[in-house]
Amino acid sequence: MLDLSVELFGIKFKNPVWVASGTFGYGLEAREIYDLSKLGAVVTKGISLKPRLGNETPRIVETPCGMLNSIGLQNPGVEAFLREIYPEMEKIDTHFIVNVFGETEEEYVEVCVNLESAKKVVAYELNVSCPNVKKGGIVFGHDPKILGNLVESIKKRIKKPLLVKLSPNVTDIVEFAKVCVDAGADGIVLINTLLGMKIDLKREKPDLATFTGGLSGPAILPIAVRMIYQVYDALGDKVPIIGVGGITTHEDALEHIYAGASAVQVGTANFYDPYAPLKVIDGIKAFLKERGYGSFKEIIGKAHQVC
Ligand SMILES: Cc1cc2nc3c(=O)[nH]c(=O)nc-3n(C[C@H](O)[C@H](O)[C@H](O)COP(=O)(O)O)c2cc1C
Repeated sequence: MLDLSVELFGIKFKNPVWVASGTFGYGLEAREIYDLSKLGAVVTKGISLKPRLGNETPRIVETPCGMLNSIGLQNPGVEAFLREIYPEMEKIDTHFIVNVFGETEEEYVEVCVNLESAKKVVAYELNVSCPNVKKGGIVFGHDPKILGNLVESIKKRIKKPLLVKLSPNVTDIVEFAKVCVDAGADGIVLINTLLGMKIDLKREKPDLATFTGGLSGPAILPIAVRMIYQVYDALGDKVPIIGVGGITTHEDALEHIYAGASAVQVGTANFYDPYAPLKVIDGIKAFLKERGYGSFKEIIGKAHQVC
């Protein structure tokens, strides 16, 4: 039997294919479409301390081979999440990872602490592409010192594994990955969206109400693969890397894995094909079988052996 299972930060995942934050809600709608126990894990929409309404519309626009979004991290806040959404998640037979963000270090810490008793939540994924209001609005994930302090402060207060999802909008991704690992992160997630803009020539102004937004979809695949490769090259298997960015097919996922990812997340593809993650799982299986591999772990970082 071909083994797709993988143990990461002390947790066993039945396969390495997860769904990405913000592209799958909390899994509650999708459970009507297929059996979510087929997924390795569901990463939830970002959760903050207080509820957020998100940005003004338009907040989504299609671009060549991708899309821009500026949803603005709309969510009900951690208390309502635990009261109204979490009980439903408990009925679903897969691991949940909660994506967490805040406007201050204290907010991040408080959200994670609130989630500690939620058994179904196996780990946290920090979205650090948010402005720090106490530090003049600089994005947490764009300043190594602020990022390191954030990770350290959260790690002191939690027992569950902490993954940090890095912003790709930096010059040297390796520097930021190293800072997180030194501060105690249990895994690095690469990558969040890239900052972009589209101009609506009819209205003669930017399409998005916020002008700029996060670029995702196939357009960013080579950037994600490059960043995973660089971080794996520098850090090896010190902590697992979770790949996300531009994955539509199993070949895309395999690129992430060959570059060094121990698991992958499917994001934007869910919007146009909700079955994409299942097709990726089947495709990886078929690929391994065809090439004579006994387990998925044999190909993690394999592109590095031939260079
Ligand atoms: C509509 C939308 C909402 C998103 N919301 C979040 C979020 O709340 N937190 C987060 O860390 N990433 C969020 N992301 C980023 C994705 O999880 C993922 O990192 C990114 O889209 C790249 O993967 P993809 O090309 O497969 O979509 C969002 C992306 C999209 C398209």
